[in-house]
This record gives sequence, structure tokens and C-alpha cells, in this order.
Amino acid sequence: MNIQWFPGHMAKTRKQISEDLKLVDIIYELTDSRVPESGRNPEIDAIAQNKPRILILNKCDMADETANNKWIEYYKSKGIKAVLVSAISGYGINKLNTLTAEILAEKIKAKAEKGIVGDGVKAMIVGIPNVGKSSLINKLSGRAGTKTGDRPGVTKGKQWITLKGGTMLLDTPGILWPKFEDAFIGQKLAFTGAIKDEIIDIEELALYFIDFMRNNYPENLKERYKISDLEKEPVDIMFDIGKKRGCVISGGDIDYTRAAKLIMDDFRSCNLGKITLEFPEEM
Ligand code: G4P
Repeated sequence: MNIQWFPGHMAKTRKQISEDLKLVDIIYELTDSRVPESGRNPEIDAIAQNKPRILILNKCDMADETANNKWIEYYKSKGIKAVLVSAISGYGINKLNTLTAEILAEKIKAKAEKGIVGDGVKAMIVGIPNVGKSSLINKLSGRAGTKTGDRPGVTKGKQWITLKGGTMLLDTPGILWPKFEDAFIGQKLAFTGAIKDEIIDIEELALYFIDFMRNNYPENLKERYKISDLEKEPVDIMFDIGKKRGCVISGGDIDYTRAAKLIMDDFRSCNLGKITLEFPEEM
């Protein structure tokens, strides 16, 4: 599946993030637990340079728990500090705070020795669109869903939110672009909804998704749609699902667009269970 990507403001965005990064002590790199590697930016190492960084596997509540744990082990083996988080439930936030304090222990100590009180460490969230950056900022800060720019009368310039542990968080996240050099990456991101459905063929997408599901999570597919035969073409499985779920048009055929949307919606709202789309063994 070929997904078109329009880089647009990539260079400008990168410059902005690089400037913002100069202001912080640590980077919170956000990715999606369902696609931990596909959800990362290919140039993050270059952008982050040697700044301390924590990889946050967000939306862990939507992903397969066994796979979540394998990913944490995988990153550990690579010397990458990673933590499972749900920006909605708050799962993992305490661990994130502890890890931040651990990584920046020397810096915090040095500040304290200089008598700097209350000047917490500074952090910034970066990640590709839809990965949960705003949700995490809101969860960490306890603020409601407003964004700085939405509030009238706010002076321009950097806004910092002081978090419970004293960490100061830049309230505008850095928006990174995903990697598209591999068609499968675009496809997986499209499954999660990180790429707008308007620019992709939803029927084609759902067929690839059915294929993935029957190979990796066949029971989830069978249980949700009360179907038993997965030994057939994805298009025929889609037909069965459409029929079971009432996506029928006159003449007995099914409305494939409706069936495709229903399947993708079911995945994105976890009605098909907790699903991970890529695994450390494949890396
Ligand atoms: P962004 O700033 O990186 O673009 O992402 P944002 O926070 O807007 O989150 C994108 C979508 O992902 C939102 O759903 C949000 O609720 C959801 N989300 C973020 N973090 C988590 C998480 O840890 N777990 C789960 N289950 N969902 C998460 P939406 O449907 O686009 O918006 P809304 O209906 O929630 O407002």
C-alpha cells in the first residue's frame, strides 16, 4: 500500500524543535505502544543529539500486554530508557517521574548545591501526530484540554507548566514526522489512525488489516464477528463480516466501504481487543 506523505514544514519544524530542545534537560519521546518503532521519527537521534531522553510507549492500554513487556525488554537490551504509559488513565506516570529523577539525579543535586530551590528540571514532549502528546501534557499537568494558543490574551513566548515533582514541562510539544521509507510503516500507522483516512483507501487498508489479524490475532477476529473460517481471501472474510454486521446493499452484496470503516473503527476503539501491530522479533 502506497501512502503519500507531504513533508511540508519538515525543515521548519525540525529547526523549531532543535531550538526548543536547547531549553530543556530531558526529552520525552512519545511513541505508540501498538507500533513502537514505526511510531518513531527516523531522525530523532540526530535531532536529540546527546540530550537525555526517555522513550514513552503511550497508549499501552490499547496494546497487547505480552508485546508491551517484550518491547520494554527489547529497549532495555538496546540501552534505551523506555516506559509504558497511558496518557488517559495515568498508568506509568509515577514511573516516568521516578525515571526522570534518576536520569537527572546529578543535575538536580548540582542545582540544589548551588542553592537553586524550586527550579525544577525542564522537559519537553516530542512525537508524531496523534501519538498522544496533548493528552500527556494534560495528564501530567492536570490541566483541561485547552492549548496555550487557544487562550486569548496569552503573551507569546515559551510557556512552562510546573508538574508535581517540580519538573517544568514546555507546554507546546514538538511535532515530528513519521518515517515513510517503508510501505509497511505507513500501513501500520494508517491502521492506528495516525494518517487521516481521507488520504487512504479505507477498503484496501481494511483488507491488509484483516490479513494481519488472521495471521496474528485470529481468535480476536473470530470472537468479535462470530466467524469461524479464516482460511480464505481477506476480501471474502470482509464479506462475511459485512454480512454479519448488516452492511448489506440490495442484491445481497455488501457495502465494502461501510464494512471497512466498521472494522477499522473496531480496532481503533479496542473492540477487537488489545492489539500490537509490530513485535521486537521483527526488528
Ligand atoms: P497529539 O497531541 O499527539 O496529536 O495526540 P492527542 O493527545 O490529541 O491524542 C490523539 C488521540 O489518542 C486522542 O483520541 C486521545 O484521546 C487518544 N489517546 C492519547 N493517549 C492515549 C492513551 O494513552 N490511551 C488511549 N486509549 N488513548 C489515548 P481522539 O479519539 O482523537 O480524541 P478524543 O475523542 O479522545 O478527544
